[in-house]
Amino acid sequence: MPMYSEEDIDEVRSRNDIVDVVSSYIQLKRKGSNYFGLCPFHSEKSPSFCVNQAKQMYYCFGCHKGGNVFTFLMDYNQSSFPEAVEELADKCGYNLPKQELTVEQKKRQTKKTRLSYLYKDAANYYYSKLHSNVGEVGMHYFRDVRCLDKETMRDFALGFADGKWDSAYRFLRDKGYDDELLKDSGLVVFDEKKGPRDYFINRVMFPIVNERGEPVGLGGRVLDNSKPKYLNSRENELFLKRKTIYGYNIARRTRRDMYILCEGYMDVIALHGAGFDNAIAALGTAFTKDHALKLKNSGKKIYICFDSDTAGVDAALRAIGMLRLLDVDCKVITMGQYKDPDEFIKAEGSEAFEDRIKNAENSFIFAIDKRREDFDKDDPEENNRFFRNMAGRIALLKTDIERENYIVVLSERYGVKSDSLRELIRDVSKNEREMSIVRDELYKGFSEDDLRDNSSNAKEDIRGPGKRIDTKKKSDEGLRETEGILLTWLFEEPRLYPVISKYVSADDFQEGIYREIASDMFKAYDSGGEFDPAQIMCNFEDNEAHNAIAKMLHTKIEGIETDRDKEVLLRETLIKLKNESLKSVDKSQPEAGKKIRLIKEEIRKLQTEDLL
Ligand code: CTP
Ligand code: MN
Repeated sequence: MPMYSEEDIDEVRSRNDIVDVVSSYIQLKRKGSNYFGLCPFHSEKSPSFCVNQAKQMYYCFGCHKGGNVFTFLMDYNQSSFPEAVEELADKCGYNLPKQELTVEQKKRQTKKTRLSYLYKDAANYYYSKLHSNVGEVGMHYFRDVRCLDKETMRDFALGFADGKWDSAYRFLRDKGYDDELLKDSGLVVFDEKKGPRDYFINRVMFPIVNERGEPVGLGGRVLDNSKPKYLNSRENELFLKRKTIYGYNIARRTRRDMYILCEGYMDVIALHGAGFDNAIAALGTAFTKDHALKLKNSGKKIYICFDSDTAGVDAALRAIGMLRLLDVDCKVITMGQYKDPDEFIKAEGSEAFEDRIKNAENSFIFAIDKRREDFDKDDPEENNRFFRNMAGRIALLKTDIERENYIVVLSERYGVKSDSLRELIRDVSKNEREMSIVRDELYKGFSEDDLRDNSSNAKEDIRGPGKRIDTKKKSDEGLRETEGILLTWLFEEPRLYPVISKYVSADDFQEGIYREIASDMFKAYDSGGEFDPAQIMCNFEDNEAHNAIAKMLHTKIEGIETDRDKEVLLRETLIKLKNESLKSVDKSQPEAGKKIRLIKEEIRKLQTEDLL
């Protein structure tokens, strides 16, 4: 597993407080001894994502993800463990020893890590080509045709792929990458007859980077009008289109309170070049729920600035639907006669664009204005249908105030009496069929799953009959909860340890991760030490284990007001655990009888003795 020593890992971990790290990604608010925010891993409207400073862990009560600082970064950035360690080491200025990997380690190195090195080398290769003699055509294109300055080209690490068949292939092969990885990366195509051939030939290159600025993919554009205009390297373990936001690594640091969401590479680059360091784009794919979630977590407003053509307007309407559904504040910037922001900036300059930002349109009204164009204004029947559609949209707004505000503005805008509009809203909202058409229209292109608020997962247990999980699973979960209560309690109140350890040992916990953690905790307390779950997590490779550990140590302990309540619950919990232990004794074992007697004796004591 880790290429770094336990000491290094621990040093990095202890220098990075989890509250600091998490709050650099999402907004947290203090609530007692915890910090809460909106969970970045599922969509929700009220915060159930909890960060605990004492535990140095986070846990989401809605989607049950949890872990330590490293887990958070791995999940948030889709990175590997060593990458998370490196990022945090960087952040606190800790020098990790540079280790040459042994052959064995190299082999074990995950594919993710190897791909990440490969894309880094490839992006560097194309970058240096652009700045060499062969790259003069590419340089001419960026500088003279697209009017980019040197800094902008550098910020986006733009590059050039020359016209030869296999120069990137030979460069990367000589760097030590094997054919299989090169094939998987999508940077090289292996033709049965012609052999290996570069995927990008004679194109200007755009590295696609993750939030830390590390290349995870590449896009390439032709220098003329030939087709296909853009090629993109394929998705891989590091690069998922539906999650990637181009320019986000830079835009994340903007001081502005909004992001400008555009369509293409060149829009983002041109806007950055003109001083709008908050421009971003969802590339080569429609705007997805994953994109929306990521942006929601930034807490910033979104100004949609898509192309002026029909496709651009449709895409904007879709994005508005998704963003509004997630309660993200969004507005629309239109480009008028210009095709896209890139063209606008070139023609009108940054001041004019700044004006556009100031005059950005309300997204709800923008969508209605666009819908208006589908109905013939001279036909009363069509007018009627338009107003019913508008009424349906207003009916779907969440609060009375919101509805009332829009009624006032829209009745004025479309020249109808506000009372007539109110009446229409009452009428349309009673018509299920009409409402469902409006809903489909607003959220077209999103699956049921996209539209579902995942936080309802948390309420699974109270769903009606027919959805019950089978009883065996349920009792397992009940037991897990009992164990969780005990572990959470012990962790929060170590002074209970002498009492609890009188009756139970780690062996009373179910086999698996609960028992492992119990055993670690008991050992730590036995030796008078502290139990540090965030540290222990580093011994587990998969994030599932991290989630489980965070879950068990965040079990809600309810119904305790007095010391007496505490004693009652503690007694109940311990007896439950003992009873389970009793059930799980393997009767075919020689010592079974003795074991059973012992446990029964302990239960009897638990029923009678004073605990606290
Ligand atoms: N795109 C793509 N593949 C294509 C066409 C487009 O992946 N064949 C993606 C690219 O990310 C592109 C974005 O969709 O940046 C927007 O496409 P388009 O508006 O056609 O390109 P522009 O950004 O306007 O490109 P340019 O200004 O370079 O002509
Ligand atoms: Mn363009």
